[in-house]
Parts: sequence; structure tokens; C-alpha cells
Amino acid sequence: MLTSAEIRQQFLDFFASKGHVIVPSAPIVVKNDPTLLFTNAGMNQFKDYFLGNKQPPYTRVADTQKCLRVSGKHNDLEEVGVDTYHHTMFEMLGNWSFGDYFKKDAIAWSWELLTQIYKIPIDRLYVTVFEGDAKENIPPSSIALKEWQNLVAADHIVFGNKKDNFWEMGDTGPCGPCSEIHVDCRSDDERARLPGNQLVNKDHPQVIEIWNNVFIQYNRKKDGSLEPLPATHVDTGMGLERLVRVLQGKSSNYDTDVFTGTIAATAKITGKVYGFSDSRADIAFRVIADHIRAIAFTIADGQLPSNTGAGYVIRRILRRAVRYYYSYLDYKQPLLFQLLPVLAAQFEKVFPELYQQLDFVTKVVKEEEDGFLRTLDKGLKKMEDIISSAQKTPHATINGSAAFELYDTYGFPVDLTRLIGRENNLQVDEAGFEKEMQQQKDRSRAATAVDTEDWIVLDNSSLMEFLGYDTLEIDTKVMKYRKVKAKGKESYQVVLAATPFYAESGGQVGDSGILVFEDGEVKVFDTKKENDLIIHYVDKLPMNIDGPVVARVDRTLRNRTEAHHSATHLLHAALRQVLGSHVAQKGSLVNAEQLRFDFSHFAKLTEEEIVKIEDLVNEKIRENIAVQIDEMPKDEAISMGAMALFGEKYSDIVRVVVMDKSYSIELCGGTHVAATGELGYFKLKHESAVAAGVRRIEAISGSAAAEWLKEQLAQLQQVKEILKHPKELPKAIEATLAENTQLRKQLESLENRALVGIRKGLLEKNELVNGMNFVGGMVEVSNPDALKKLSYDLKNELDNYIAVLCANIGGKPSVAISISDGLVAGGNWDAGKLIREIVAPLIKGGGGGQKNLATAGGQDAGRLPEVLSAVKEAVSRKL
Ligand code: ALA
Repeated sequence: MLTSAEIRQQFLDFFASKGHVIVPSAPIVVKNDPTLLFTNAGMNQFKDYFLGNKQPPYTRVADTQKCLRVSGKHNDLEEVGVDTYHHTMFEMLGNWSFGDYFKKDAIAWSWELLTQIYKIPIDRLYVTVFEGDAKENIPPSSIALKEWQNLVAADHIVFGNKKDNFWEMGDTGPCGPCSEIHVDCRSDDERARLPGNQLVNKDHPQVIEIWNNVFIQYNRKKDGSLEPLPATHVDTGMGLERLVRVLQGKSSNYDTDVFTGTIAATAKITGKVYGFSDSRADIAFRVIADHIRAIAFTIADGQLPSNTGAGYVIRRILRRAVRYYYSYLDYKQPLLFQLLPVLAAQFEKVFPELYQQLDFVTKVVKEEEDGFLRTLDKGLKKMEDIISSAQKTPHATINGSAAFELYDTYGFPVDLTRLIGRENNLQVDEAGFEKEMQQQKDRSRAATAVDTEDWIVLDNSSLMEFLGYDTLEIDTKVMKYRKVKAKGKESYQVVLAATPFYAESGGQVGDSGILVFEDGEVKVFDTKKENDLIIHYVDKLPMNIDGPVVARVDRTLRNRTEAHHSATHLLHAALRQVLGSHVAQKGSLVNAEQLRFDFSHFAKLTEEEIVKIEDLVNEKIRENIAVQIDEMPKDEAISMGAMALFGEKYSDIVRVVVMDKSYSIELCGGTHVAATGELGYFKLKHESAVAAGVRRIEAISGSAAAEWLKEQLAQLQQVKEILKHPKELPKAIEATLAENTQLRKQLESLENRALVGIRKGLLEKNELVNGMNFVGGMVEVSNPDALKKLSYDLKNELDNYIAVLCANIGGKPSVAISISDGLVAGGNWDAGKLIREIVAPLIKGGGGGQKNLATAGGQDAGRLPEVLSAVKEAVSRKL
């Protein structure tokens, strides 16, 4: 029996023999395509070749591509684990022709491979052909039909409609009619009873599609119309896991060697058995075996679990797996991370990125599982409360908002709530839950909705060129533009024939600058890439958009950004020298203000390490190393020791940035200074944790560092001046602080002594008002606390009293009112009320306190005499 590795290799060898170049899988996480979070088909990385935006380096390629179908147009998540042939992550084997061979060869080769190399019996194979679509004005695929008629019997050809036989990447993008190949894996008896052609595309678990041959001919536009493409292409995709199942003669993908390793490991860890009798446990086994692949390979490609976007998708997949082992395998500790060594070893040859980062991925997965298991425990406690209140409702129902809270706050998928509900004879108010979900979706859609119109094409004659490595200003013209609406604001996006504007990538922000048209200037506020298209973001358009234009990059911003990019390379190498070679870049942001660098490392950096890193980078700056940038074949660069990043897509010819070949060699598309001396100085400003196993450094260099230093020195100068230029500044500051403490202590003791005298004076002025002792006066104290203490101490000397003490402390009024406990107990007197109602308004301030002691501070010290008379007046009036 062939192993899955052999089957994969045979596919690649076959297409290599037909003149195809074998290329690596693109990363599973998509960076430069706003229509996708994850690679969902082998053709994603070639989208621009189909659309004619970019010239392909080869016209025939083949590969195995890591795909994930859990969001957007292609989403299989709910089926995964429940059936035996859908997956979150899967490998798509594919062959492509970019304007080269078309239907005839694609069909003939797919047939040759399946029947002659893999030797699948012809009578088990069925093919589908597009029947055409009158509404869209697409004719039936007569060429494909003719080719198939030469190869298979008529009753093995099935016609399909647009749903099954017209493949589209997403709501927009390249698309075309397709021909699928299905395999009937049923027993001979069953096949004799019902012909396989009746079961094609009918969700039969044993009659399954294995290969799709798409003939890319159109671009689906935003307005829904189809635009014929300048050339025709072939795009095929065969699910490796399904193919292996067929060739290994299994009835489930999970019984093939793609999954048996992780399933056996799960059984060993949990002590449960797969495929025995418990169907829910079996689903759990399959969910885990499937999900761990998606989780591991996306993290290895640089996507950490998080609360938004692609990161949230990973988090959801991981939580789905946790709750399956928690509930159905009765395993209450982190499990997934224990499977990673098995998976990494299995894929070491084909996708080495997991093996190479095993420690890092393990740490991230374990931490994420730990976190969710803790929430799950809390959620189960919450569930108990919900159950007891639901049991009191007339219909024994868990209401929609409770189910939603469990989902939203505690990460409980609603089916878990449903299940626990059932165990307690409770139903979930499904409609109520759906309503809450919908409201949340609407909220998030409203926050992020971007409406992008179709391109308006002025000129399609040339391919766009980036010239910004060598120049910051060129004469060019607009090729196409479109309108974008987001958050109620309109802006435009422009593609130029050639551009000096660097589009955001590799952490370096996009350039800003201006486009000078004949009738005025348009500001470019950002530049980004969409696949390989460079898009200039502008807020308005000129009148004559089709006239000549000068594109000019803002030189200052670009230079500052470049300094930070070169500093990032020096820092990366320094980190590896000082901390170790486990340090791998996990993300970066390089702009005019600073650089931010995330990297895998397990501990907080020590003060000593930070100093070493800074010193090393500054040493390399002073060496004034010439920055050498060359293009070369990728293999050559790697053998030179160039650092490639995980999760980054590289073409065969790569750009290599060298700063002393014994110090830093990186594959990098960014822009750089000419020699490291231009950086002047490097300063590490902040070091922190961003996620499990990932640290972050923020730093500055170049003119940003010079400005920062200037500011620091100016502050220092000010301090020196204030302290009258002492010889040794730290000593002078220490001495001043010590003196300050000493003086404060002295002042306190003097004031305490003075307070005794002040208290005596006040008591002498005591008068009888309305039958009570009234003490009122202005006193001299240095702080409100002293005023409070004075008020408080009166208690020991007087009964039946009300005291109002006022002070002007550094120009600000401060007032304290105290009332003897007896009067307060009588119920007529409340110091807090007097303060709020009489004092605070007078001194333009606020305050409050207890009934027996309250204080106020304010703005207008001039009104303090009035405070005294007003309170006295109130005391005299009240019964
Ligand atoms: N792009 C085609 C698919 O994903 C081959 O099915």
C-alpha cells in the first residue's frame, strides 16, 4: 500500500514529467488579499497571473497547497468530524497552466494519472461537465465533453449546473466552468444495485469528488457581471486526504496514515478507543485529529490565536477541539499540545516549518488550551446558575440571551449549551439566540463594512512596475482606479503604470506623498498591496485622471522609515547573538516614528541582555557597514545563511539584504539605508510580552533617535539649571530629596506644636449660638489634613459644639466643619450637608464627608469670611 507521502510525491513527479515546475505551498495565512483570511484553494497565490496583473515566471506549475476552509465562501467547519471526508485544513494537490495548455491536456493528464499511475479502476470513476447557464450567458462546455467522451463511457459523464460545475474563488475574482472527477468506493453489490452516476454530488459518503479541473476564463466583478479574461488558464485541485483514502482502500479519510498517528496518540493520552462504539467519542477523535492540523500549521505560519480576524478563527477551531475532548473524551487538561510532536514528525519533510518551531507552537497551543479550560470551568459554573433559573420558567427554557452570554463571554458553542440543557430537561430558546447572534454580526459588520467598487480601467496595456528602490519620483500614468466607501467616508484607490511608492509589506509601512496631475495635486495617504497590485490610497481624484502624472514619495518619511527598517535587521541579528538562535521574527512594524519587533523567546529580557543588545547594534552602526542588496535564486540565498521568515511567501528569485555577511543576511523586500552609519544611534525603548512565547521590542533609530536624544538632553539641561549646575547631578538630586524629607518632618512637628496653640485660641473665641458652642475662625495651616486634625481634636475639649475652620492654603480655600456626636445623634445637624449646601457653592468647589466631620476645597479663597458668617447664620436659625 502506498503511503500518503508516496502518493503526494507521485503527483508532483507526474506533473514535473509534463513540464511543470514544482513550487512550494504558499503560507496558509493570507496577508495581501482583503477578500481572504486564509488560503482556501491552490490557485489563490496565482490570482494575479489569471487576472493579468502580473507576468508568471513559468507557464506550468504544480504543488501541494495547505488550505483552510472555515470562513467566507468555502466553509466546511460544521461538517468536520461529523462526517469522514471534510476537513478544516487539507492539502490541495494542483496543476496550473497560465495561458498555456487548456482543457484537452488538463483532462487527458488527470485521466492518465488517476488510471495509469494510481490505477484507480475506470468503472469506479465518474466525471462531470458544465451544462451551461442561460441567465449568465455561459455556453455548455462542449470541448470538455468531447475530451471526456474519448476517455469514458457515456453513462460515466454527468452534467452539472452552475452550483456544481462553475467554480469561483469568492464573491469576486477569477472563475470558470469546471469538470470534476468522482470516485465510487461502494462495494460491488451496492454498485450493481444502483449505478454510481445517480450518486454523484449527492453527499454520499462513499461516492466522493476527488479532483476538480477548473478552466479559468472569467473575472467575476463586484457588480456581479462576468468579464472574459485576456487569456485562458487551467486551475486544478485534488484533495490529498481523499485521494489517499481511495488509494489506501479505506472508507474514511481518518483511517488513512494522514490521521492515524494523531488518533493513536489521542487514544493513548485519553485512554479511550477510536471506532469502537461511542459515536460521540468518535466524532471527538476526528475533530481533534483534523483541528490540530489547522491550529498547528496556521500558528507555524505566524498567525497567533486572538480575538479578531484570522486569529479568532484559529481560537474558535481550537476551542471547538477542546470542548470535544472535554465533553466526549472526558479529558479535562490540555491535550492538543501533546499531539504536536507526532504531527511535526509526520510532516517534517513536506512542511518543515512546524518541526522547526515545535517548541514555540507547543507553548502557544498549551497556553491557549489552559486559558480556555479555565473559562470553560467558569462557564460551567455560570451554566449551573442559568439551569436553576431556567428550571423555574414555565417552559423550562434557557433564554436566548443566556445562551448568547455563554457563547460570547465563556466561549460555549451553542451546541454545548444545548447538550447540557438536554441533560437537565431544558430547551434552548433557539430563535432568541439567533437574534442575539445576528445583532452581534450586524454590529461588527457596521464597524468594518468597506464597500469597494469595481475598477475603472483606463489602460490595460502594461504591467505595473515598482521603481521605488532606486527613485522617489517618476513620470507615470493612471492604469485604473476605483471608489471605496468605509464608515460613511469616500476615498479612491489608484493603480499606476509605474510607481516609486513602496506598498506596505514585510512590516514596513506604505509610502505617502503626492500625485501631481496637470490640474493639481492629490495626496497619497497610504500605499498597500493587494496580492501583487500596488494600490495608492487617495482622498480625491483630479479632473483629468487620464493625463500625465508625476508620482512623488515623501522623502523625509521614507528616510526615517528606512532607518528603522535597517535597524530592525541589526536588532534581529543582535537578538540571535545575545539570546540564541531560537529567536525567530513573529511580526514587525517599521514606520517613521519607531520600529516594533516581535520574536519568539520565552522569558523577559534582563537589564543586562538589553544593554548587550543595544551595545551590539550601536557597534554595528559605528562600523558603518555598507548595506548590500542583491537578487539571487532562493536556494542560493538560503545556503548563504539568509534568514527567511515563517509564513512569508517568497518567489524563486529573492532579494537579499546583507549587512556584513558574517552578521546579518535576510530575505527582504523592504527599503534600506545605504550604510549602517546613517542610523546614527539605536535606542531600545520598551520590552514586553505580546502572547505566549512572543516578546516585543520597541526601539528608535536614525533621526527619530536623534530627536528623542535631543529631548532627553534638553530635559536634563533644565534639571541642571534648576539645580544650579551641580558637579554630580544624581548626588545633588538625592541631597535635595533628603533635605526635603527632613524639612517635611520638621514642619510636621512644628505644625503639631502650633496646632495646640491654634486650638487654644479657637476655644477662647468660642461663643454660644442658638444654645450651642460655636467655634469659627480662620487658621493658618500648611495642608488640609492639618485642618482636619484640628477639627477632630476639638472633640476632646468641647461638647455640644459646631466648629467651622477655614484656611487659605497656598491661595486655595480649605474648610472643615465638625459637630459633636451628641448634636449629630439629635438628628438636626449634618456637617456633610452644611459643606455641600453652604460652603462648597461659596468657595466654588466641592467636598463632603460624614455627619460629624466634613471638608471642602475650592477656588475662591476670598469668600472664606462669608463662609464663616453664613454657617454661623445657619446655626443661629435652625431649631
Ligand atoms: N480551484 C479549484 C478548487 O478549489 C480547483 O476546487
